[in-house]
Amino acid sequence: MTQTYRFPDGFLWGAATSAYQIEGSPLADGAGPSIWERFAHTPGMMVGGDTGDVACDHYRRYKDDVQLMKALGLQGYRFSIAWARVLPEGTGRVNQKGLDFYKRLVDELLEQGIAPNATLFHWDLPAALDDRGGWLNRDIAHWFAEYAEVMFKALDGRVQRWSTLNEPWVVTDGGYLHGALAPGHRSKYEAPIAAHNLMRASGAGIQAYRAHGKHEIGVVFNIEPKYPHSQSEQDLAATRRAHAYMNEQFADPALLGSYPPELKEIFGDAWPEFPADDFKLTQQKVDFVGINYYTRAVVKHDENQYPLKASPVRQPNKTYTETGWEVFEQGLTDTLTWFKDRYGDIPLYITENGSAFYDPPVAEAAVLDDPLRTNYLRKHLKAVHDAIQAGVDVRGYYAWSLMDNLEWSLGFSKRFGLYHVDFATQKRTPKATARFYTQVIESHGTALDD
Ligand code: BGC
Repeated sequence: MTQTYRFPDGFLWGAATSAYQIEGSPLADGAGPSIWERFAHTPGMMVGGDTGDVACDHYRRYKDDVQLMKALGLQGYRFSIAWARVLPEGTGRVNQKGLDFYKRLVDELLEQGIAPNATLFHWDLPAALDDRGGWLNRDIAHWFAEYAEVMFKALDGRVQRWSTLNEPWVVTDGGYLHGALAPGHRSKYEAPIAAHNLMRASGAGIQAYRAHGKHEIGVVFNIEPKYPHSQSEQDLAATRRAHAYMNEQFADPALLGSYPPELKEIFGDAWPEFPADDFKLTQQKVDFVGINYYTRAVVKHDENQYPLKASPVRQPNKTYTETGWEVFEQGLTDTLTWFKDRYGDIPLYITENGSAFYDPPVAEAAVLDDPLRTNYLRKHLKAVHDAIQAGVDVRGYYAWSLMDNLEWSLGFSKRFGLYHVDFATQKRTPKATARFYTQVIESHGTALDD
């Protein structure tokens, strides 16, 4: 019998974005600055000197953008809330106009029959909180819960799926260990503390939800599976360290209430003894986990790589995306089955998956052909289907991203969108991948059949 890729009934098809990457107008209507506002305006931090000042101008064009979602046939839309729009100082005073923007967006989505999935923190920490130590200050767990509560009270009636954090690994690795992302610190002494406080904050947000919310809450991790370059003891140990550092460092405290032993090996004297009680906070019952998957890494031992002593090995004859990531769809199936084996049968969503390939700055056709991206989507959706067949409870898929946007410190140089954005005119043009995705949605996946 030929394979059919029909997905289970009720499987949710969506797309994702985040606030700083698309909204623009970051200081409008009384919003406070975020650490990304500061970082992007620091000379030398962003490719091309790009900033989120305008981005996709979604703050003003959100209604048109919801029409793009409708044209795609989306059933769900994952977006993030800019904390500093709602609480300009991070705590205390609520900025009603900031809150109103998200209310309008959610109303518009619901009117078009698209289920909102709101992420509370996708990296744009209020600058006022960074001034108080940001993720290094243990009080941030309470600050986050206060903000989360404001959002739950305002929107839980209409938003039925919430996530606390997006990709805490990127926040600590990019923001506190290597400095390529805001707030741009480089310290192995800070990174584990920031990571721990992120997971405490996520736990405190979930606790607040149990008191105020009635639907679903979870947390979103980027999982990048690690495969050994050789079977040598050194490469196997390096692979275990890389996996513990990137994947288990965050999922373990949230779902098992502990850290893997490799972290102490990696961080040495910089690895703190965390109070045992903290794990009561980090480990909360979640209704789902969101998994962002882009690529894998093949790992070898490398003395010079600080502090992991492990580095990735480029694979010959493989397709790499514009962000330098190998296209490796089997890694998504492996990730989903690994997650179930380690953490049990938790409902999972693919909350991000996508690829940057070159598209021209101006789209001249009515539909822009992007065969490499279409191929990536096709292969990864099949990989999700394989995991479902292997018994993993995957409930939905959000493509990254609805449209081309600000790829953080890489600026507008990398395009991940289903829709092309001409950043000079804000014109949106569907790519062939968007058309293909619509066929997949309409056919419940059978458009993937060979
Ligand atoms: C993030 C997105 C980002 C994407 C592509 C994820 O790390 O959540 O904000 O644009 O991957 O790099």
